[in-house]
Amino acid sequence: MKFADLITKKIKNEELNFNEVKYIVENYSNNQINDKEMTKLIDAFLINPMTEQETIDFFDVTYQKSQKVDLRQIKNFKIDKHSTGGVGDKVTLLLLPILDALGLKSYKFSAGRLGFTGGTIEKLKSFPNIELEISAENYMQKAKENNILLTSGIEEMSYFEKKLYHLRNVTQKNNVLGMVVNSVMIKKMILNNDGLIIDVKVGSGAFFKTFKEGLQFAELAAKIANKYDRKFSFIITDMNEPLGENIGNKLEIIEVINFFKNKQTKDLKEIVIAHVHEALLMSKKTKSLKETKSQVEKIIKNGKALEKFRQFVEKQNGDFDFIYKNQEIKTKNKIEIKSWQNGYINIIDTSKIGSFVNQINVLNNNKIDYESGVQLFKKNGDFVGKNELIAIIWTNQKNTNLLESQFKKLINIDQKQKIQVSKIKKIIKNF
Ligand code: URA
Repeated sequence: MKFADLITKKIKNEELNFNEVKYIVENYSNNQINDKEMTKLIDAFLINPMTEQETIDFFDVTYQKSQKVDLRQIKNFKIDKHSTGGVGDKVTLLLLPILDALGLKSYKFSAGRLGFTGGTIEKLKSFPNIELEISAENYMQKAKENNILLTSGIEEMSYFEKKLYHLRNVTQKNNVLGMVVNSVMIKKMILNNDGLIIDVKVGSGAFFKTFKEGLQFAELAAKIANKYDRKFSFIITDMNEPLGENIGNKLEIIEVINFFKNKQTKDLKEIVIAHVHEALLMSKKTKSLKETKSQVEKIIKNGKALEKFRQFVEKQNGDFDFIYKNQEIKTKNKIEIKSWQNGYINIIDTSKIGSFVNQINVLNNNKIDYESGVQLFKKNGDFVGKNELIAIIWTNQKNTNLLESQFKKLINIDQKQKIQVSKIKKIIKNF
């Protein structure tokens, strides 16, 4: 078999069979296929998308080749959660402590930053010393000690996923649907939690720009979850504006802490509650949305959720108080963006806001700047008067005038109001 022939086959829009898919996964993993060749295959998939069978075959082979962790020794109901990636998406960091406070456990592999989206791993690294890599040998021991375990350990478990994720990121070819399915589902299936909740983001700040693509993802991923006998809920949510108020690593952690102190934006709260509700329904811990809401309200009010967030960070050796006790952002520059006219906010392209933040998050030496980011105080459809504060850019970069003008181009102030609808578009589940 020759790799070049497989690319030609795909360019001709012929379906790859199981053995061909196996050849690709095996030979890319052992470096017989190089990144340049693999990029050509990604390009072919961008022209002729992976078929359903190809996606399932890719998954099955990747799964066979990956190391797994058997969590069955841990007794409580265990929930895994993932997002397909968004801007300002800190739902995981809110959900896991809430579930812990309500008696559920969570073990999960999170992703690092991909394309214009932020990564949960980078956000957590805002806590000095936090340990986010655990070897396969030590995983079970740690899982027994912790109610929440969130790591980037996929690198060790699946070399194929590690390599492909990196390649998709550097080539900015992130939205081959079958590859997103593979990437997300491998992180979920190698840990056998009892239930799985996936936030499928759709809109300008997501890899899936349309509801139709998001639905296609959910239906394909659901086939895999069913095949591997996992209870699941795929929540398709709107990502046409950043989620919550803060975008950037430490800024998002501060928003999580404030959420637990009852300072919450409506959009973030709606999505978090929907996730908690699915988890509680799956584990038979609630009968209605009303009951879920009152359970969440209680553990936020009595401080239990915040305490669980602290425990999670500290159990992974992170210095929680480094942020908790001093929430000041320490950047050299603070740029206030004020409205240039009266009108209604209309965010043109949320992925560009994500790219803007990722660009100011990188220092000259290529290191991550955890302090910098954007606070966006207005949502689509909000009215702003002339000179009203819309956003603050926190940055260590010097070119403040340029950043200000770049940022202003990402938002329109229209005379016509964009009507806001619910962030939850559809839920597909099996439990
Ligand atoms: N999260 C992942 O783990 N992989 C993707 O491809 C997108 C989001």
